[in-house]
Amino acid sequence: MPTLLILNGPNLNMLGTREPGIYGAETLKDIEARSTARAKALGLTIDFRQSNMEGELVTWIQQAAGKASGIILNAGAYTHTSVAIHDALRACGLPVIEVHLSNIYKREAFRHQSFVAPVATGSICGFGGHGYELAIEALATIIAATNKG
Ligand code: DQA
Repeated sequence: MPTLLILNGPNLNMLGTREPGIYGAETLKDIEARSTARAKALGLTIDFRQSNMEGELVTWIQQAAGKASGIILNAGAYTHTSVAIHDALRACGLPVIEVHLSNIYKREAFRHQSFVAPVATGSICGFGGHGYELAIEALATIIAATNKG
């Protein structure tokens, strides 16, 4: 079964209590559970992780090459700052879907720039935890098309 690596960046471990008016009431565990269910229904498995450390996220992206079939990334605030994550994604050779719970384009100007978007296959934002399921569906379609040759 193909495996998708789902990475979550800083402060996403605080979901549920963190600014619920923006990020909703779901915890990261809730999002992991719905991602696992969606992936299973599509014949995929997931490896779901969170880190507050930029370097750890970079290492996990590097290690995914040759192992995972795709990456779903909510890089949190590193989206708007991290050239290191941009470079790791660019080098990994895997399809990448960028996800944000909130619609970053409706928010402060500093959130309008993403270092992930230029190296992602596509981006999904503004749909809360459902965005992770949409990203899994997108990767399932990409993987199926790749396997068809
Ligand atoms: C976020 C949006 C980012 O701007 C913010 O720094 C986050 C969460 C989102 O999921 O909406 O930590 O990535």
